[in-house]
Amino acid sequence: MTQQIEQQQLQQQALLRDAMRRLNMTRDAFASRIGVSRRALDTWLLPDESPESRAMPEIAARYVAEILAGMTENDAYTQSAYPSISFEGRPQLLSIDQFSRDSAEALFRTADAMQPIARRKKITRVLEGAVLANLFFEASTRTRVSFGAAFARLGGSVCDTTGFTFSSMAKGESIYDTSRVISGYADAIVVRHPEQGSVAEFARATNIPVINAGDGPGEHPSQALLDLYTIQREFSRLGKIVDGAHIAMVGDLKYGRTVHSLAKLLSLYKGLKFTLVSPRSLEMPAHIVDRIARGDHVIEQTSDLRAGLAGADVVYATRIQKERFADENIEGYTPDFQINQALVDDACGRDTLIMHPLPRDSRPGANDLATDLNHDSRLAIFRQTDNGIAVRMAIFAVLLGVEHQVRHSMRDATWKSPASIGPDDAVFQGFD
Ligand code: NCD
Repeated sequence: MTQQIEQQQLQQQALLRDAMRRLNMTRDAFASRIGVSRRALDTWLLPDESPESRAMPEIAARYVAEILAGMTENDAYTQSAYPSISFEGRPQLLSIDQFSRDSAEALFRTADAMQPIARRKKITRVLEGAVLANLFFEASTRTRVSFGAAFARLGGSVCDTTGFTFSSMAKGESIYDTSRVISGYADAIVVRHPEQGSVAEFARATNIPVINAGDGPGEHPSQALLDLYTIQREFSRLGKIVDGAHIAMVGDLKYGRTVHSLAKLLSLYKGLKFTLVSPRSLEMPAHIVDRIARGDHVIEQTSDLRAGLAGADVVYATRIQKERFADENIEGYTPDFQINQALVDDACGRDTLIMHPLPRDSRPGANDLATDLNHDSRLAIFRQTDNGIAVRMAIFAVLLGVEHQVRHSMRDATWKSPASIGPDDAVFQGFD
């Protein structure tokens, strides 16, 4: 097999996903558009390692490429050749407001191209020699490690710092000084900080790419991007599109920055129904509700969990952010506010996706997403975290201008890795 054909095969999922996104078609509609059975299309979309995966015939690939090339500027979602991420003229990711529907989907195209690396089948060294400073002034496990892993999988190296106690901010250093100093050491900086607006302040003091990994109750743009990417991939499998979907957001909508960014990002689509379920004292801030209301969406707010879940395509649960409470009273946030197997079986459909940015509070008495759902294939939380690697790789590649080098730089990974990552992943197999 020539290298070119191997590359084509490797990228067939990326091509097909891109085409479905740009044509805004469900799998069924797209299969009939290109004149193949839904079953054939499904096998072309499975990851290479799946026993049922099939290579798409070259003629089909050429036809899909022709359809894309023939799309005019008047077509609904014609994307620019490469995605771009910039804030006030600098390559920085501070807010989800920087994205349009097109630019988010162009980023997802790059994320799709990263999947063979994120799944450890391929390696690349496009960021060889580059250094990431991962500065976390607030608790984190997955965001910090996944940003670090994403940078390392692109061939770069990572320097980490966690908490105020071990940083010079504890000695009174300003954000400006810290930012300027770290900029002399690193080629990209990821910052998490407990104060809203602090990461933007950090970014103003440097020309180096900065990514906001959470600024207090403000925003968490990379999480929103990986959440929407996950919703699109899962919807593709389920034969749905984002336009017209019903999204229920549950929990601490006041302080949960992930839902702030995600609600704004989803509002770029058409005709959604948002059900915002929270105790009265933890409702979604008015400025976010106003923003969603600018689109042609239906918004419902309730504190009745069971009623709020009815008919939802996605249930996005969040943790109560106690560490951010001023004097909130969460009366009414009783144990029946927990999303568990019994409630999901009762109130949700067979295709409802259950998502959560994690961490979920799994201690006895916590009202967070229950662990008894772990064997339910509707639970998408680990597919969400896995997708975080490909999306964060795409963000780095775009910010550092190497996204077009990745495709041709891939080599086979040489180490052994298990066929499925987690012991319970079997129930999710064949899901792509
Ligand atoms: C969230 C965060 O830090 O905002 N976690 C994450 O980044 N995935 C959610 C939370 O802490 O509850």
